[in-house]
Amino acid sequence: MNKILVIHGPNLDLLGQREPAVYGRVTLKEINDELGKIAKKNKVSLKIVQSNHEGEIVDLIGKSKKKFNGLLINPAAYTHTSVAIRDAISASGLLTVEVHLSNIYSREDFRQKSLISGVVKGTVLGFGLKSYILGLRALIDLI
Ligand code: DQA
Repeated sequence: MNKILVIHGPNLDLLGQREPAVYGRVTLKEINDELGKIAKKNKVSLKIVQSNHEGEIVDLIGKSKKKFNGLLINPAAYTHTSVAIRDAISASGLLTVEVHLSNIYSREDFRQKSLISGVVKGTVLGFGLKSYILGLRALIDLI
């Protein structure tokens, strides 16, 4: 059975209460439940992790090369700052899809650069929960 690692970056545990005008009312649990349904239907297994810590995310990606067939990641604020997460993805060689709930290119200047996009297969953004759904479907198709 193919295995996919799903990583939610910092503050995504606050979804539902956090800036609903930007991120909507969807909670992390609802996102994870939807991903779980897609995984079940497509007979893939998911490991889902949320972390507020850059080093923890780097360690997790570093250990995942042999264990997983793909990575679905919303690096959240680290999208715009983390050379370390970019390098970890690149070094892992994992087939990776980047997702964002919001359209980072229509927001503040500092969000309009993703350090991650250059090392992933593709990015889905701006569709809220649907970004994750489309991202996971794309990853499953590619695996
Ligand atoms: C985000 C966009 C980032 O700029 C922000 O820091 C987040 C969430 C998104 O999903 O839209 O935490 O990755």
